[in-house]
Amino acid sequence: MSTARDAVGGGLRPEGAPRKGAAAAAGAALEHAGVSRSDAERLPDGRLKRVTRSYVVRGERPDPRHAQAWEKHADRLVVEPPRTTEPLSVDPAFRFDAEAVFGRRAPLVVEIGAGSGDAVAAHAAAHPETDHIAIEVWHPGAAQIVSQLAHAGLENVRVMEVDAARAFATMFQPGSLAEVWTFFPDPWPKAKHHKRRLVSPALADDVVRTLQPGGVWRLATDWADYAWWMRDVVEACEGLENPYAGERPSPEDPAGADRGGFAPRFDERPLTRFERKGLGVDRTVRDVVGRRV
Ligand SMILES: C[S@@+](CC[C@H](N)C(=O)[O-])C[C@H]1O[C@@H](n2cnc3c(N)ncnc32)[C@H](O)[C@@H]1O
Repeated sequence: MSTARDAVGGGLRPEGAPRKGAAAAAGAALEHAGVSRSDAERLPDGRLKRVTRSYVVRGERPDPRHAQAWEKHADRLVVEPPRTTEPLSVDPAFRFDAEAVFGRRAPLVVEIGAGSGDAVAAHAAAHPETDHIAIEVWHPGAAQIVSQLAHAGLENVRVMEVDAARAFATMFQPGSLAEVWTFFPDPWPKAKHHKRRLVSPALADDVVRTLQPGGVWRLATDWADYAWWMRDVVEACEGLENPYAGERPSPEDPAGADRGGFAPRFDERPLTRFERKGLGVDRTVRDVVGRRV
């Protein structure tokens, strides 16, 4: 389906989807009530309903070099799924067909919230035998990933601009993924915002369904409170086991100084801007791994 960039939200708007009229008026009313457009979802009848998202839609434009790379390479490197009426959505009937996209059968790694794509690009270069999908909702980030892939001549990565928290439930076939990565997701540190956290029991259920037996979900954060949260989500998820249960305990852990449950640093993850920033203010970076049983 072709799309156009939404002038209001900065996201993708299916061609022909209403931009003005009743829905816009409803949106304006919600915005007037202090709800930003990124916290509203348009129903098929044009009304808007309040939703909780793990991101805030920012209207930033990509760096011109990245925009140029997007223009030139998106046809090849970006997978544009059919959408519902919502930007960043995926039609629930859509299934990602890795063999058709990559032209081969290979282990598939999906990064949720890939940022500027440093981790996925490094892994793709080191593992030409593995295919990758970089999922990102922030268009300047997605454009930077495309630019990075084109520059490095990497053909084993595709970029998708979708809200993974919603798309994971339907987009991937059960048992089709070797690994899922969620590195340094936005921490949403205030208690009233915890419901926005990307890592949640609902996402864990979707991830475990898509992982092949023995497949792993790798997570990392520099926020202590989010690290306990990630560990708890992984350990509570039926179908996932924590291979590092009890390891690397911490005296500040509210679940107990002996509890632990943290993995060694994933040595294939390059030091990204977000990890460097956390280390720069003396935060401890913790990794969590969930393995599909
Ligand atoms: C703090 S950044 C970390 C980026 C990268 N993982 C790294 O370590 O450099 C978190 C990223 O997750 C993206 N994100 C947040 N919610 C998302 C969602 N529901 N689906 C896909 N990406 C999301 C944000 O746009 C942002 O780029």
